Amino acid sequence: MRVFITRRLHDFAIKELSKRYRVTIHHGEIPIPKKTLIEKIKDTDGLICFPYDKIDNDVLANAKKLRVISTYSVGYDHIDLQQAKKKNIKIGYTPEVLTNATADLTIGLIIDLMRRITEGDRLIRSGDWRQIFGAFDYVGQDMNGKTLGVFGMGRIGQAVAMRANAFGMNVSYYSRTRLAKSQEKKLKIKHVSFLNLLKNSDIITIHAPQNKQTEHLFNMKNFKKMKKSALIINTARGKIINQKDLISALKLKIISGAALDVFEKEPLCTSPLTKMQNVVLAPHIGSSSAQTRAEMARITMQNLVLGLQGKKMIYSVHL
Ligand code: DGY
Repeated sequence: MRVFITRRLHDFAIKELSKRYRVTIHHGEIPIPKKTLIEKIKDTDGLICFPYDKIDNDVLANAKKLRVISTYSVGYDHIDLQQAKKKNIKIGYTPEVLTNATADLTIGLIIDLMRRITEGDRLIRSGDWRQIFGAFDYVGQDMNGKTLGVFGMGRIGQAVAMRANAFGMNVSYYSRTRLAKSQEKKLKIKHVSFLNLLKNSDIITIHAPQNKQTEHLFNMKNFKKMKKSALIINTARGKIINQKDLISALKLKIISGAALDVFEKEPLCTSPLTKMQNVVLAPHIGSSSAQTRAEMARITMQNLVLGLQGKKMIYSVHL
């Protein structure tokens, strides 16, 4: 059987796959150009892909032999699920393993934004740090006592809530499915309406998948409902925020700041966001710790092997 991988992966995973299959790895342009992917997919039985590879209808229409797609990500919004289902292609993904890494980064971004760490770093590097310890210099905000509004209370939302509790924050959440009362009690979280989340949160952090319901949900209309002092954090998917509206909301001081690990178009090269002091930017590194990325490689590899063997994958997308 043939396995195609759209970019370099850990050696141990490639070694394991090579014992069983004829493995080809794409080493050229990233993300792989669609034309190349279409060409390669024609005689591929198993595909390993990454969040930026669009596995859409055009690609799947050319997948004559494809039985398994194993994505190196928790998100699978880049795969046309309906077409995959029609063609009886199984999909593996990597949830759970990246929960802690993503929650850690989220808290890091919150602290960074509230205490203006990166802003201070930029100030020193630019040679503009002139005065020390003034009563009003570079003042940020305490985390203790602030209300953190979590949008989406899945695994990552819950891990963020636990960490936020330790910082003395009050955690509210909005999720399509409400958690059991016992879980809410354990996590010290309060379920609120979406409107309430917008109106009363000091910080909103997004932990929901991108889909028709969430795309551009955070737009000007909703920024206007937030506190003027509010901050927004996104480590989920860029398209959940309308980036153009966010830039206007920050410029017009409708909200106070943003920390973003994901963007509508990645990589983010030129954007007014890069010029704003009240914005912290990260290059989509939510799951990017050495341990987590290696574990993701192991699961991605095992999902593919199990799927091609016709066995139950470690994590499969319910189609
Ligand atoms: C994922 O796995 O979907 C993340 O976006 C990667 O950091």
